Amino acid sequence: MKRLVSGVKPTGRVHLGNYFGAMKQFVQMLESDAYEYECFVFVADYHALNFIQDAKEMRRLTYDLVKDYIAIGLDPKKVTLFKQSDISEHTELCWIFDTITTMPYLMRAHAYKDAEAKNKEIVVGTFNYPMLMAGDILLYDADVVPAGQDQKQHIEYARDTAEKFNRIFGDTFKLPEPVINPAVATVPGTDGRKMSKSYGNTIPLFASKEEIVKGVMGIVTDSTGDRPENVYAIHKLFKTEEQLVPIYEAHKGKYKALKEALIEDIEAVIGPMRNKRDGISDEQVHEVLKEGALHAKAIASAKMREVRKKIGVTL
Ligand code: TRP
Repeated sequence: MKRLVSGVKPTGRVHLGNYFGAMKQFVQMLESDAYEYECFVFVADYHALNFIQDAKEMRRLTYDLVKDYIAIGLDPKKVTLFKQSDISEHTELCWIFDTITTMPYLMRAHAYKDAEAKNKEIVVGTFNYPMLMAGDILLYDADVVPAGQDQKQHIEYARDTAEKFNRIFGDTFKLPEPVINPAVATVPGTDGRKMSKSYGNTIPLFASKEEIVKGVMGIVTDSTGDRPENVYAIHKLFKTEEQLVPIYEAHKGKYKALKEALIEDIEAVIGPMRNKRDGISDEQVHEVLKEGALHAKAIASAKMREVRKKIGVTL
């Protein structure tokens, strides 16, 4: 069976923008591909260590991430879900790739150049990010790697690295194909700009009823026109335009009634996911990650045995 591999980084509390912008499509794709591919999804905690350097925070974000994905429909029975740090082969392979990769080549990475342009102090882990990611992917002989548009270049780095290793040491790694999430329309926030944590215009994905009310009542409306555009834009995530037109006709100019309708529609979608998430215990997360690591480890360790032989460190 072909293999699909993808890593997710913890981001903190997810909002509707994260969900409708990427997570939903990702989980739907896994759901439909699970019959065609053997799917591996992991928490990229060693990548995250570049910017989360607090043990309590790291643990909390890891639990949150696993719960979030299970709550939105990722089924750990169909998808092998594990933690990158549980499989030491990822970092081992990263080191081997480091020895065949040049600095100028890594300096061409967008992420590095962006950080450089902002005059940030760049840690070696950030500079080397594409090599750990190449390890993540090539270790499992991935056929396809679903990711966001911003990850396209990283997947090319993995392909190049596979080719280079194969050239030097003989055919070992498969060249993975990127599957780039089609750019979906940006999800609007409560002020009409793109929903983003940095703008403070988000509604949390697993919001409580009170938080939904607070978020929706806070949507910026202007009093010109019949339709509050910022309310409508968010409403469109939950209902089709055909469903919305009669509602907005019936409540023309009545912003409060329209916001109340939106609150109900958000609650109808979020409520069940929130309940599901609340029902997942830390122990269950442990179990899922333990099972997942067992499966991943078997594949990763066999691959690394092959790699060690190829480079001549096994006698
Ligand atoms: N870099 C990815 C991101 O920021 C996460 C990631 C780490 C990943 N390793 C991966 C994605 C391997 C796909 C395959 O979203």
